Amino acid sequence: MNNFELYNPVNYVFGKGQIAKLSDLVTSKKILLTYGGGSIFRNGVYDQVKEALQNVEVIEFGGIEPNPRFETLMKAVEIIRKEKIDFILAVGGGSVIDGTKFISAAVQFEGDEADILRKRILFKDLDKVVPFGTVLTLPATGSEMNSGAVVTIEATHEKLTLGGSALFPKFSICDPTVIESLPKRQLQNGVVDAFTHVMEQYLTYSHDAILQDRIAEGILQTLIEIGPRVVENPTDYTLASNYMWSCTMALNGLISKGVPADWATHMIGHELTALYEIDHARTLAIIGPNLYKVMFESKKEKLAQYGKRVWNLTGSNDAIAHQAIEKTVDFFHTMGMKTKISENTEDNYEETANIIVKRFEERGWKGLGEKQEVTPEKVREIVEMSY
Ligand code: NZQ
Ligand code: ZN
Repeated sequence: MNNFELYNPVNYVFGKGQIAKLSDLVTSKKILLTYGGGSIFRNGVYDQVKEALQNVEVIEFGGIEPNPRFETLMKAVEIIRKEKIDFILAVGGGSVIDGTKFISAAVQFEGDEADILRKRILFKDLDKVVPFGTVLTLPATGSEMNSGAVVTIEATHEKLTLGGSALFPKFSICDPTVIESLPKRQLQNGVVDAFTHVMEQYLTYSHDAILQDRIAEGILQTLIEIGPRVVENPTDYTLASNYMWSCTMALNGLISKGVPADWATHMIGHELTALYEIDHARTLAIIGPNLYKVMFESKKEKLAQYGKRVWNLTGSNDAIAHQAIEKTVDFFHTMGMKTKISENTEDNYEETANIIVKRFEERGWKGLGEKQEVTPEKVREIVEMSY
């Protein structure tokens, strides 16, 4: 097993009725409440939050888009600077939480705030960020228990990451009943995003971190078991609670410890969102299986393990490895995904591979993936296979 440090300071508060605990968890007198397009007003989450924060001065900042925009978030940064706010409460899905991480990092940043994204600056100093907590409304990204975020610069259509150990939430309230109001499409997205998060950290090459593999396989099997059912029955608390916890566990850092990681599917997928605004999870369903095909030689041992343990396949290792990819595609289809770019956008997509390869080359991304073998040429092959 590789050496590792496990640092995760998030106070993870899970279960029914837990939003009321905000009254203890928020200790500031004046906070900024960040939210998205308004779903929190329609599903009762906002009311629960306000009820718990009766003694707190709350300034509200709404309108954080899915795939949050740098330009929008900078308006919240200005409010915090002007109003001298010292705590942010994010109420929403991955986009609101990610956006809040950016806001937290940008308030004291000196210089062009876009550099936080373009230069991938890491935030490690707690004195340089504004502390924040979250009330999760959409299980998918794991953002509630990790320190990463993804933000889009509207002006250039770039979707870029930020992060660092100072950007963990102080707390995250995760009440599984919030999923009752989620549209089917978002429930489907959550399952596929979490599934792919596990695959990025699991489907690499054989190593000796036995426990991490077993935990990863357990999350995958749980998502396969409950995914199709939770989409149909979001009011079933057993399904909702296991779904929410699986999504958090998929990307809270635990299964990545001591093992190699890939993340090339995400890096390519982010470009599809930046170019065509395809939902994040849907880009992963398009790219992931084709990446496994193009990188087959490098990943076949792990694909065979995945096929045997997660899908109970039998036969030769090579045959299992190939079948395991097909099983994954079938699962994504069951989860309502369309796995081709052409099925997900009306825009002209013929230049997609050229555009993405050019961007990666400009960023110096010569080799992504667990062995840095996903070269621009491989990226081209993967993207063209996805048309
Ligand atoms: O904006 P509102 O009105 O709240 O509506 C949202 C939005 O339209 C709606 N929604 C959320 N909770 C709801 C609800 N509707 C009804 N009931 C509820 N309880 O769902 C829509 C999508 O929300 P969004 O936050 O965009 O979805 P998600 O959580 O999937 O987040 C996606 C973003 O996270 C990034 C993605 O790139 C994308 O920008 N990611 C963040 C990661 C991280 N921080 O670790 C990792 C991921 O791989 C991912 O890249
Ligand atoms: Zn993701």
